Amino acid sequence: MIVATSNSSSAPLRLVEVPSLPCGAGDVRVRVRAIGVNPVDWKMREGGPLGTAQRIIGPRGPLVVGIDFAGEVVEVGAGVTELAVGARVVGGTDFSRGQRGSYADEVVVRPDQCARLPEGVSFDDAACLPVAGVTAWRALTDVGGINTRRDARVLVLGASGGVGLFAVQLARAMGGAVVGVCSGRNAALVARLGAAVIDYTAGDALAEARAAGPYELIINAVSSETYPAKDCRPMLTPTGMLDLVVVSPVDYPSLVFNRQTRTILGRPTRQHLEPLVAALAKGGLETPIETRLPLAEAEAAHGRSRAGKVVGKLILHP
Ligand SMILES: NC(=O)c1ccc[n+]([C@@H]2O[C@H](COP(=O)([O-])OP(=O)(O)OC[C@H]3O[C@@H](n4cnc5c(N)ncnc54)[C@H](OP(=O)(O)O)[C@@H]3O)[C@@H](O)[C@H]2O)c1
Repeated sequence: MIVATSNSSSAPLRLVEVPSLPCGAGDVRVRVRAIGVNPVDWKMREGGPLGTAQRIIGPRGPLVVGIDFAGEVVEVGAGVTELAVGARVVGGTDFSRGQRGSYADEVVVRPDQCARLPEGVSFDDAACLPVAGVTAWRALTDVGGINTRRDARVLVLGASGGVGLFAVQLARAMGGAVVGVCSGRNAALVARLGAAVIDYTAGDALAEARAAGPYELIINAVSSETYPAKDCRPMLTPTGMLDLVVVSPVDYPSLVFNRQTRTILGRPTRQHLEPLVAALAKGGLETPIETRLPLAEAEAAHGRSRAGKVVGKLILHP
């Protein structure tokens, strides 16, 4: 199999051929057709908590990053009944199960990490969903409970990124009134997807957001350095929640001691992917793709993602 890997965190990713992993009992092998790029992919290369965990409990051999994939099942292990060869799927790899990442021409995963794709949904659109879509979905449902009430007010900080664009659309689909903070260059896109826009380059975004609140849910998909939790929480209703998509050490006390502050891990599972695929199939979810690149240009994709200006998603093709 072909994977994108590098010898060190600073060496560029390049394609190498490595032996395929076995497709054991309970596994499926998927021929990867499209890979969604997430900031966690380059963060893992740089170490940090996830990178360290990956090195300790992940598979031996070259470090292969990447979580999101879409493709076709080409082999099923003993005992697999949910998926058959030929099934079109979207999913996410999981190093805690000893799996290699998705920057490869094939992955070996478990069926509960994959959702089936109907014929009408392209691999590229599907590959946008796993980490970013599941993170937005869980923020709105598990943290905010926005799916259980009508007319909830939701503030999305970082509305034009991978997580933010899904959060805006899903919150609107759940009947929420959404305020999205993005820069002026992305205002038209975020507004078209259903949010009232605040341009953070044109003034004090949090002061404007305060005037448009209070909120049942604030999703901070940028950072607490940029939008401090202590400035966000006063904008919440008494039962409102602040969801920190990005957690830095400064957030640890809030996450432990403040009941209105939470974070979640956008780990792709079939359960969380299925409603997203259904929304995509019905035309109820747009997947703005900024650029498609061959897997051989994964390093360039990481450079773009690191710069923090990606609108929607970057897609790699093995
Ligand atoms: N907890 C989890 O499981 C989880 C899951 C997914 C992602 N994350 C983390 O969440 C963060 C966002 O992920 P992502 O995939 O959405 O990233 P992304 O797509 O790379 O986000 C880039 C977007 O952020 C916007 N942005 C930058 N500075 C901003 C600011 N000050 N105010 C508002 N928007 C700003 C940019 O818009 P402009 O160019 O207009 O500034 C750009 O559109 C990353 O740090 C990622 O690692 C965590």
